[in-house]
Amino acid sequence: MENNPVTPSQRRFFLTVMISGISAALAVAAGWPVWRFLAPRKGAGAEEKVGVTRDSVAVGNAYFFNFRGQPAVVLQTRPGTYAAFSAVCTHLGCVVKWQSDKGEFLCPCHAGRFSADGTVLGGPPPKALESLPVALDGDMIFIG
Ligand code: FES
Repeated sequence: MENNPVTPSQRRFFLTVMISGISAALAVAAGWPVWRFLAPRKGAGAEEKVGVTRDSVAVGNAYFFNFRGQPAVVLQTRPGTYAAFSAVCTHLGCVVKWQSDKGEFLCPCHAGRFSADGTVLGGPPPKALESLPVALDGDMIFIG
């Protein structure tokens, strides 16, 4: 009489199922971060707009905010006139600062300068700051 009622084929089947299950779990664990990295971000569509209250942007001043994961800025250049730009310098990607006393942007990395309309005034930046669409609705400024 045999003490072990498990046959070798049952043992093989059990081990095959266990190894397959563990392999599937490891594949999911390794693939999930890759999927999260490659999948489009939620809300990253072209229709996403950012709303800023008009009170946030005084005449001649700038308001920095996050636009689709990147720094951006809106200016009130004249009373009731707004312009928005990506705040990422077109040289090597540093974030520009607004100098209200000079009425221009300064990039702190290599002293690139941009005017209030985003054009290059000096320094190494090869092109203007990226302009962003602006729409006004009541007390709100919508960018994007
Ligand atoms: S990164 Fe802005 S001037 Fe170089």
